[in-house]
Amino acid sequence: MATQQPATRPANPRFSSGPCAKPPTFTLDKLADAALGRSHRAAVGKAKLKAAIEGTREVLDIPADYKIGIVPASDTGAVEMALWSLLGERKAEMLAWESFGSGWVTDVVKQLKIDAEVKTADYGQIVDLASVDKANDVVFTWNGTTAGVRVPNADWIADDREGLTICDATSAAFAMDLPWDKLDVTTFSWQKVLGGEAAHGMIILSPRAVARLESYTPAWPLPKIFRLTKGGKLIDGIFTGATINTPSMLAVEDYLFALDWARSVGGLKGLIARADANAQAVFDFCDANDWIANLAEDDATRSNTSVCLKFTDDRIQDGAAFAKAVAKRLENENIALDIGAYRDAPAGLRIWCGGTVETADVEAMLPWLAWAFEAEIAAQA
Ligand SMILES: Cc1ncc(COP(=O)(O)O)c(C=O)c1O
Repeated sequence: MATQQPATRPANPRFSSGPCAKPPTFTLDKLADAALGRSHRAAVGKAKLKAAIEGTREVLDIPADYKIGIVPASDTGAVEMALWSLLGERKAEMLAWESFGSGWVTDVVKQLKIDAEVKTADYGQIVDLASVDKANDVVFTWNGTTAGVRVPNADWIADDREGLTICDATSAAFAMDLPWDKLDVTTFSWQKVLGGEAAHGMIILSPRAVARLESYTPAWPLPKIFRLTKGGKLIDGIFTGATINTPSMLAVEDYLFALDWARSVGGLKGLIARADANAQAVFDFCDANDWIANLAEDDATRSNTSVCLKFTDDRIQDGAAFAKAVAKRLENENIALDIGAYRDAPAGLRIWCGGTVETADVEAMLPWLAWAFEAEIAAQA
């Protein structure tokens, strides 16, 4: 029984799934070069925005003919912009296996009211990806942040598809390999895997997505904040740093710092290796303890960023209260902050394992999780 507190503490107790831990080398003075109090349309502001776009292309290895834009309202803004600008030209398939994917379903079915086939799976499972029809547009999350379930690969996306793939990759970009040839619209926000600041989203468009934008006009009105075209042509400025409205130059500086840090750990390969090592430490812990398990039922779909766990011990009387109490104990000890399961997800824990988290901290935290579990079992009795 691990009732005695472990000797080692994580150096950084931040395991939140968003905003995520800042890069380990972050200090506020690293942002001293931010273009504060300057116009984002001045040469200095534009150059930084362009560097954010081209740095994203370089680190994520995005093809030269894909467009990358910085847009308002974080990942939500980027996804909504895509849904409202592109859907309706043909039937859509909406895939959802957790809260955020379900949110996109609501938007498309209840707000846009377009012809859509909805495919859902319970938390821990994933939809039948092989059943996706290549004639349809398809909307999905690469990694379901609130379930810890990700798509295992992109084999189910046809090379000769007629529809577009619209992928919310906010908790996948910079931690998982994204096959750009299979993705027509990809979105993420700075506050996730690189530990940047919220408020800005990124939208990445394939040439096919641009062709749709330039050949199709939705039947509904679009507010300025969503508009990617003017007079039937893509607004090129959005993809070179002339943002739709005013961005935070402090957040831009922070993102540029995060990209530099990403390069320093080996770029995308290094980031994936860091996330994999963190997640593996948690997987091994679950294998070694029969009272806790991964929420993802199929190992091939286990997330390496938002690792979701469930307690499986028969002695637990009230699952939700128990999980909350364990998380609270770890927070009170300053061992792990913000690791309760998402509010709409099954009771349990969610441990962020993206690359800004140090493996040594995950390894130091896990014995404390065993301690908190035993303490709570005892308290319950
Ligand atoms: C899969 C997914 N989509 C969308 C969002 C919303 O992101 P944001 O708050 O950056 O708009 C999140 C946030 O956790 C997410 O995990």
